[in-house]
Amino acid sequence: MSVQDEIRRLTAPDIRARKGGEPIVALTSYHAHTARLVDKYCDVILVGDSLGMVMHGLETTVPVTLDMMILQGHAVMRGSRHALVVVDMPFGSYEESKEQAFRNAARVMKETGCGAIKVEGGRRLAETIAFLAERGVPVMGHIGLTPQMIQVMGGFKTQGRTEAEWPAIEADARAIAGAGAFAVVLEGMAEPLAAKITREIAIPTIGIGASAQCDGQILVMEDMLGLNPNPPKFVRQYASLGAEIEEAVQAYARDVRARTFPGKENVYTMKKAG
Ligand code: KIV
Repeated sequence: MSVQDEIRRLTAPDIRARKGGEPIVALTSYHAHTARLVDKYCDVILVGDSLGMVMHGLETTVPVTLDMMILQGHAVMRGSRHALVVVDMPFGSYEESKEQAFRNAARVMKETGCGAIKVEGGRRLAETIAFLAERGVPVMGHIGLTPQMIQVMGGFKTQGRTEAEWPAIEADARAIAGAGAFAVVLEGMAEPLAAKITREIAIPTIGIGASAQCDGQILVMEDMLGLNPNPPKFVRQYASLGAEIEEAVQAYARDVRARTFPGKENVYTMKKAG
C-alpha cells in the first residue's frame, strides 16, 4: 500500500460529524507551499476569496473571479493531502440562480478537485444550498459579516451588536442548516449571538471574530502570521513574519551591494577535466 493510500482526506461529512466535539481547526491558504504546512495541523483549508485583498491588493473581494479561485484552489489541492479543502465561490458566480450556482460549483469541483465550496448569505440562499447539496456539492455557509455584500452593508461592520438584529441572523443560520449545509462560518458578530447560534443549530459553526464557543475557528493565515499591517481586532498574531521578511530582504540587499552574496557555497565550480 502506498503512503498516499494510507492518508485519507477529511470530507464534508467528517466535519459535519464534529458538531459539539473536538474543535475544528481551519485556516486560509492560497498556495501549494503554505497549504503543505497548514495541512499538517488543520482540518479545513479554505481557499478564501480574501485572496483578492491579500494576494492582489484589492480593496474588497468583489472583483475576484471564478478563474482566480480555481487557479489557487488547484494549487492548494496539490500542496495538501489530509485537510478538507473548501473553495470560496466569488461574488457574482452563484447569486443569480440555483442553476448558475450549480454550473459554477461543479466547475470548481472538477477543475480543482476540492471537497466543498463556500457561499455567503443566509435565507436568500437556502434554496440554492439545498439544490447544490442534493446534487453532490457539499456547501459551507457564511453569515454575519459577509464581505461580498460590503457595498450594501456600507463597510466591514460587526453584526448583531443590538438584540433587535438577532432574530434575522438566527433565521439565516437556521435556514442554512435546514437547507443541508455541512457547516457555517459565523463572521464578525457579537459574541453572545455566535454562542447562541452554535447552541441552536445542528451543524458546526466556524467562528472568525465570533465566539470561542463556536465548533471551530478560522483565520486568514497572513493575518495571524503578522503580514497584515492593519489586522482586525479579532486576529491573534502567532508570528511577526512581516518584520522578519523585511529584515531578511534588508540583509540580502546589503549582501548584494557589498558583493558578499553569492558566497563560495552558492556558486558552481568547474568539473575536473578528463
Ligand atoms: O475569504 C475568506 O478568507 C473567508 C474567511 C474570512 C472566512 O471567507
